Amino acid sequence: MTAAIAPSRKPRHIAVIMDGNGRWAQRRQRPRTLGHRAGARAVQVCVDFCLAEGIEALTLFAFSSENWNRPPEEVGALMKLFLRMLSLEVDELHRRGVRLAFIGERRGFPEAIRDRMAEAEIRTAGNRALTLTIAAGYGGRWDIAQAARKLAIEAAAGRLDPATIDETLLGSHLSLAGLPPPDLFIRTGGDLRISNFLLWQLAYTELWFTETLWPDVDAALLRAAVADFAERERRFGLTSAQVAGGAT
Ligand code: FPP
Repeated sequence: MTAAIAPSRKPRHIAVIMDGNGRWAQRRQRPRTLGHRAGARAVQVCVDFCLAEGIEALTLFAFSSENWNRPPEEVGALMKLFLRMLSLEVDELHRRGVRLAFIGERRGFPEAIRDRMAEAEIRTAGNRALTLTIAAGYGGRWDIAQAARKLAIEAAAGRLDPATIDETLLGSHLSLAGLPPPDLFIRTGGDLRISNFLLWQLAYTELWFTETLWPDVDAALLRAAVADFAERERRFGLTSAQVAGGAT
């Protein structure tokens, strides 16, 4: 039995790159798409964990801007899986108080998926137990570019003085505006990179990597990540003494 982590030491917002579905399936001599289906079960494990631990926000990288270039069969299977999850899981998530949000460029997605995304967002908008954000068609560079474009349109129309553009204003036009930035970033599957995920928002996020493949993720692994996070000193550019409230 591991000691409980004090609520003040827990992350408020966890962001995850769910990597390793394909390898999980290939190791079993099964098609990659089976790995994605197993990955969908691990999503449920992760949501259960966050609800049980009182984590406020969970942001999952489900499909990157670059994933559109995967083999068409794999993209097609992922679309089917997304549609299936949106059809089958939203009721239960709503019942459990989960607010669903989607970030990313939606234009490439089939209309049925876009409609279900919009419906799920509207239906769950009032929920407060957990904000579950699914990044789909998402790229960190896309996010910064779309925020810059919105500001440029305002400036060109004379409604915004370019001199007033600062980090706060740009940040308020990014996809996760309204949520605290992620405290803890988890990447499964062994690679040590950010892969164009939340480039702006991860500026001071604590990074945690594991070799475990996403479909093998369980509550014990997530607890280990949170326990590691709880031990870290977050300085945000200050000194240790400043953080401890002592002399500067
Ligand atoms: C990365 O593994 C995973 C993806 C590109 C898809 C993630 C999708 C899911 C977990 C299922 C559905 C989830 C939601 C939230 C609807 P990979 O294919 O790159 O694995 P590999 O590195 O082993 O090839």
